[in-house]
Amino acid sequence: MTAELKYYHVLNYGCQMNESDSEHYAGQLEEMGYAPTDSPAAADVIVVNTCCVRESAELRILGKIGELKRVKAQHPGQVLCVAGCMAQKDGESLMHKYPQIDLLLGTSYVNSFKKMLQDYLNAHKKGVYTSLEVQSSEFEGTRVRESGFSAWIPIMYGCNNFCTYCIVPYVRGRERSRSIANILAEVRGAVAKGYTEITLLGQNVDSYGKDFLRDGTYGRPGAAEASQAREPFAALLRAVDQVPGVERVHFMTSHPRDMSEEVIRTVAEGTHLCEQFHVALQSGSNRILKAMNRGYTRERFLELVATIRRYIPDAAITTDIIVGFPGETDEDFEDTCRLVEEAGFDSAYTFLYSRRSGTPAARMKDQVPDDVKHARLQRLMDVQNARSLCINRAFQDRTVEVMAEGPTEKDPAVWSGRTRTNKLVLWPQNGNARTPEGSGLPVRPGQLVHVKVTAPQTWLLKGVRVD
Ligand code: SAH
Ligand code: SF4
Ligand code: F3S
Repeated sequence: MTAELKYYHVLNYGCQMNESDSEHYAGQLEEMGYAPTDSPAAADVIVVNTCCVRESAELRILGKIGELKRVKAQHPGQVLCVAGCMAQKDGESLMHKYPQIDLLLGTSYVNSFKKMLQDYLNAHKKGVYTSLEVQSSEFEGTRVRESGFSAWIPIMYGCNNFCTYCIVPYVRGRERSRSIANILAEVRGAVAKGYTEITLLGQNVDSYGKDFLRDGTYGRPGAAEASQAREPFAALLRAVDQVPGVERVHFMTSHPRDMSEEVIRTVAEGTHLCEQFHVALQSGSNRILKAMNRGYTRERFLELVATIRRYIPDAAITTDIIVGFPGETDEDFEDTCRLVEEAGFDSAYTFLYSRRSGTPAARMKDQVPDDVKHARLQRLMDVQNARSLCINRAFQDRTVEVMAEGPTEKDPAVWSGRTRTNKLVLWPQNGNARTPEGSGLPVRPGQLVHVKVTAPQTWLLKGVRVD
């Protein structure tokens, strides 16, 4: 008699780091014999991987956990596991408020999820695991990736920066780097499975390997290469660039205080290292940057942008900006808008400041009223959108190399893909023949194609295939 098939469903919220953790949860569930399902109602195990970076994320997640109570009532024996940053932050109290939760797993238990789940299944005793005393940051096992060609690979965990608005260091713990050997093994494994695009992830990739330098952990496999390099992150980039089969390498996020000329030069000299930099600005006002504990000035930021452009004139630079940090005056905000104009970002993620209890900024006076925050966000988005459109218009009639992603949801006859600088490109993919609208030769996700841009827009470039 064959055992009945069991199903799992993983719901992810938050950043790419969390997505990558979710891929590892899925991998462990498959190792345990579970199969994926899109339907929470059909799942025997549900993992909700949570984010708490802003209140809006938390509210959405709590709504979902509420909903899952009804799903679980229909499915006796279903296991609900809440993992990730919010689980780390709220721990036991989350389980008290939402008794439908069976297993609560903080951020340092990703690697031991399988064991915790097995313990729960054996004993049927609810478990809360929120210690931040991590064992190993090395990765073993498998990830079940959504994409078939693009792989996210965390190179380090945690953050030491304690920007005064941010909850991440409290819920992800201190910086821990994976050894170069462990990262390269995962890159090679991904390439062997057909992945050609690699994105290296960390809260502050420029800090990669600095924990090896600080604590001199030469004993760990691969740690020595990183600790001997003057700039461990640049050494890692060079190593990943040389892995046979890798077509494109991206990385994020860079910190303006720590990003070095050596990293920029490495990207300029690399073959597969993509000329795209996500450097979080947060604010263009020196006063606010100081209050945020960011460790750089607007002048240093502009110098960094100039250095990137000097080495790589075509580089795309993207950023994150917060509006309405406590004490932000109209003048501070105008400084941000001016800097955004001067820096010429390809695009920016803009956020309303969200008060995170436990962080220093939450206790600061002069919290900015909501209506002011919203008006500033709108104005900043207008400034940035005008700039994005202007930058994208320069692509008119240019031919760009695009890594094809697949048909768009809206119109399967139109495909999307990304340039090396991560710009979204759309083109009609019609049949097998060359047509007046461009080549329709077959394409598969992950393939590199050439597209001539015919209609650039604020968020994307429309064009036709020319190969
Ligand atoms: N480590 C990365 C990303 C951190 S979280 C970095 O430093 O860039 C992603 C973004 O969320 C941050 O860059 C910041 O712009 C935003 N963010 C973090 N805390 C926030 C808060 N309390 N309110 C609003 N936005 C916040
Ligand atoms: Fe948060 Fe700052 Fe760390 Fe980024 S660098 S995760 S914004 S504390
Ligand atoms: Fe990421 Fe959200 Fe945690 S942004 S690190 S999932 S708080």
